[in-house]
Amino acid sequence: MAIHIILVTGANGQLGWELSQLAASYPAFKFVFFDRSQLDLAFPETFEKMIQTIAPDCIVNTAAYTAVDKSEKEKELSYTINATAVQALASICKNLAIPFITYSTDYVFDGEATQPYATSTKVDPVNYYGSTKAAGETMAMEANEDTIIIRTSWVFSSHGNNFVKTMMRLMKERDQLNIVADQKGRPTYAKDLAIATMNMIEAINTGKAIKGVYHFANQGETTWFDFAAKIKAIASLSCELQPIEAKDFPTPAKRPAYSVLDTSKIEQDLSIDIRHWEAALKDCIDQINLNVL
Ligand SMILES: NC(=O)c1ccc[n+]([C@@H]2O[C@H](COP(=O)([O-])OP(=O)(O)OC[C@H]3O[C@@H](n4cnc5c(N)ncnc54)[C@H](OP(=O)(O)O)[C@@H]3O)[C@@H](O)[C@H]2O)c1
Repeated sequence: MAIHIILVTGANGQLGWELSQLAASYPAFKFVFFDRSQLDLAFPETFEKMIQTIAPDCIVNTAAYTAVDKSEKEKELSYTINATAVQALASICKNLAIPFITYSTDYVFDGEATQPYATSTKVDPVNYYGSTKAAGETMAMEANEDTIIIRTSWVFSSHGNNFVKTMMRLMKERDQLNIVADQKGRPTYAKDLAIATMNMIEAINTGKAIKGVYHFANQGETTWFDFAAKIKAIASLSCELQPIEAKDFPTPAKRPAYSVLDTSKIEQDLSIDIRHWEAALKDCIDQINLNVL
């Protein structure tokens, strides 16, 4: 059955919002966007009834408990949203025989690697958020072996809360900032991830077999410090940046030191080229500056 009606959760998040901005460019699809008030992932028992009212042909779950540090304290809630709810959505999609796309994170990995993580690398999270997302992956796959999981990393957008917007604000407010320089990853523009998600849905509609775990991030790897330096250069800001070690910036949740994702599987299966994070960042900062005007 071809996908026509797409139900997207997490409408106000970075990725959910970027998908909503793309919707008009995909007239073949009817999109229904649910925010937290319409579908609260803390209450999986309510899903079936709400989803029945839409009768979707595909569910794209962008909603998640993403507060990495807060998750160390709000364990029950973050587990419900990132694991139990994802399992429930996967199960509903199995019963409806429709595709289910959900997202996970580079934080499922231990950070000890020295080369990019393949989709098949064993997960071993170092913080509670990562363990809820890893549990969500396993539970969704057990409930529905056709589940599609897209792991991503270091997400930014002109909408919502993220490193790029925080840095731009702090660089305007302060003369000097200390930035962690010994954690490596791949930044991801939520707009590019939204486009890749639509590429995936179109591929499914052409009969391509898409299931299991994928990785998506923009090309190129960097550190938070170099990421901040590039934000400063593109946005023409003048704050002094000081590189520091993660051990000198303690946070409630530990972060993996190296969380670079290998994206070759999604590039091959969808025949896509992913642009470099610096080009994506420039596009995003242009959008942020347009929003301010
Ligand atoms: N952000 C990152 O750096 C990052 C990195 C790796 C992986 N990911 C994954 O990528 C996916 C998309 O993330 P994102 O960056 O778009 O996240 P985001 O901007 O933090 O948005 C998350 C959305 O989930 C919603 N949400 C939270 N609790 C909810 C609940 N109980 N019921 C319904 N909605 C709820 C939030 O609603 P409100 O707007 O009402 O708060 C928000 O709109 C997630 O699976 C995330 O884990 C993100």
